[in-house]
Amino acid sequence: MSRRPFVAGNWKMNLNRAGAAELAGVVARGSAEVGAAVECAVCPAFVHLDAVRHALEGSEVRLGAQDLYFEPDGAFTGEVSTAMLQDLSVRYVLTGHSERRHVIGETDDLVSRKTTAAIGAGLDVILCVGETIEQRRGGETDSVNERQVRAGLAGITAEQMSRITIAYEPVWAIGTGVTATPDDAQAAHARIREVLGEVHGAEIAAATRIQYGGSVKPENAASLFSMPDIDGGLIGGAALKGPGFLEIMRAACT
Ligand code: PGA
Repeated sequence: MSRRPFVAGNWKMNLNRAGAAELAGVVARGSAEVGAAVECAVCPAFVHLDAVRHALEGSEVRLGAQDLYFEPDGAFTGEVSTAMLQDLSVRYVLTGHSERRHVIGETDDLVSRKTTAAIGAGLDVILCVGETIEQRRGGETDSVNERQVRAGLAGITAEQMSRITIAYEPVWAIGTGVTATPDDAQAAHARIREVLGEVHGAEIAAATRIQYGGSVKPENAASLFSMPDIDGGLIGGAALKGPGFLEIMRAACT
């Protein structure tokens, strides 16, 4: 089963409006040269979505958001609904990012509600999972990933799985400069794919894209992406520099 590699930039709480639009323009122009072999998305802060949307017009680069709230509307101060995102042409949304789990305190249950709401509304989801360094040292990597995958997908049907991407992001590799070795990442991805098979069957498991995230850079992208169960990446820091991000996209083509 061939899976089209998918590289997404998670810009986190960075850039201003002009900087976000400029970076989006660089990615949009560069992605045309990279071509259709790899799918690309960028996820700016909510307040930059509209500016980035304009900068991406006419390109194949998808617009993504970093979060959402699961209720459709109402008295939820500070939150953003699926309809608000769709009104801005958002196609993808991240759920369960480790910074939301570990800094903001989101639970598996909240991640599940958000994932279900996003898919139900017609958005595509990048569901992020990954273990902390303590969990890895304690031999819990696979059990943590399994728990987060099963919980995150609890409300998702087999038919909806084509709109789910999993991002395996070991927490200890995010923003630290320390990357999982290709072999360690591959082992975690292979186990996640097995779990997908247990939940939704072998065919869906083989068709679902699993990105790697955690200090992916132009220098290490190709070796990670060459592993059989790694289908591109979710890129943080290195996505903030246009030329480097495009290099990572090119690494996903080979
Ligand atoms: P990083 O972040 O590439 O800066 O490690 C990845 C992510 O958090 O998605």
